[in-house]
Amino acid sequence: MAPVSVADPDPAPETHAPLGATRDVGAAPPAPRDLLGRPLRDLRISVTDRCNFRCTYCMPREVYGLDYAFLPRAEILTFEEIERLARLFVRLGVTKFRLTGGEPLVRKGLPDLVRRLAEIDGVRDLALTTNGALLAAQARALRDAGLRRVSVSLDSLDDAIFGAMNGVEFPVQRVLQGIRAAQDAGLVPVKLNTVVKRGVNEASVLPLARWARDHGVILRLIEFMDVGLTNGWRLEDVVPAAELVALVDAAFPLEPIPPAYPGEVATRWRYRDGAGEIGVIASVTQPFCGACTRARLSAKGELFTCLFAAGGLDLRTLLRGGASDEAIEAAIASRWQGRSDRYSELRSSETTGLRRVEMFAIGG
Ligand code: GTP
Ligand code: 5AD
Ligand code: SF4
Ligand code: SF4
Repeated sequence: MAPVSVADPDPAPETHAPLGATRDVGAAPPAPRDLLGRPLRDLRISVTDRCNFRCTYCMPREVYGLDYAFLPRAEILTFEEIERLARLFVRLGVTKFRLTGGEPLVRKGLPDLVRRLAEIDGVRDLALTTNGALLAAQARALRDAGLRRVSVSLDSLDDAIFGAMNGVEFPVQRVLQGIRAAQDAGLVPVKLNTVVKRGVNEASVLPLARWARDHGVILRLIEFMDVGLTNGWRLEDVVPAAELVALVDAAFPLEPIPPAYPGEVATRWRYRDGAGEIGVIASVTQPFCGACTRARLSAKGELFTCLFAAGGLDLRTLLRGGASDEAIEAAIASRWQGRSDRYSELRSSETTGLRRVEMFAIGG
């Protein structure tokens, strides 16, 4: 096997303080490393597979009609179940949670889950990725519950382009109102996630960069990825991150800056005039698997160790079958220790046809 690009992404401590609430005695076990030496640091928690958008690159409406059958309620983890698992993940080294979907804000009562997660000792970051449609109504309650920050997806400031990309003609202004509400509530810094597709929204990049600069928002330009098997991905539709940086740099000169934390997926650039920063997420042209410390928990309780995995470990059956905390923790640790995923680095004509989970099912 070829060597990975980054041998030790995070020289982190091998043990973690016990939390007390799921167990009251005993030192935490050594934090597991995977087969490539990567620790487990981030957990992305999908709280629902439902979404009120049908983005062409994620849930194309030709495949996922408005009558698409999402998971029934009983199959989705309850907040109690998510909290219990979250505490076990923290014992194994996780310090950051990100709530995702589908669209996480369509799950009722989300602030209750945020409060439960915010109360866990050892959690240093608690964020949410949303399409912004329901954000204006919920930003304050989320903040009050302990959410730290949000990343909002928006692919264009032009209604015709954005409406076509989100698949439901959702208006730009409503997303901008959500961003504003998030800023007013203190969910900062707000990041704006823009997936760029060749020939579709390249012309939207500069207006978005200008708007983000003017509004204290961090724009992140994302290469269109081959997640799932339904979005019709073709390499020709990917605009390489280097090209995106050059495009912005020509209008607003940029200089590189180091990652904000080990394993950050975005590569950061700062405006030379001091007006903030942008990030590019180059999963296709500059894969970052060597530093990947992320696990994903699907809405129905499967643990995925890669965005491109074919299958996950069913934790819900353990939870609902009466397994002890120790048994579930051991199952998670063992899965992580057996991990060798580095799909983006291996991407090739042999891998592109392989079965893999759809992104809305695990939250991206
Ligand atoms: P920060 O915590 O602010 O650094 O955010 P993040 O980049 O971890 O999360 P976000 O949900 O904003 O993700 C932005 C984009 O990066 C999405 O398109 C994700 O699907 C993609 N992304 C996040 N993690 C991974 C990963 O592990 N592998 C790949 N290939 N893409 C990822
Ligand atoms: N390629 C790149 N990014 C994607 N996202 C969803 N599908 C894709 C894809 N095929 C992004 C969304 C959101 C985040 C969770 O993932 O825009 O910002
Ligand atoms: Fe929904 Fe996000 Fe997928 Fe768009 S990218 S369809 S908003 S889950
Ligand atoms: Fe991590 Fe898989 Fe993404 Fe590579 S492709 S960075 S291993 S989630």
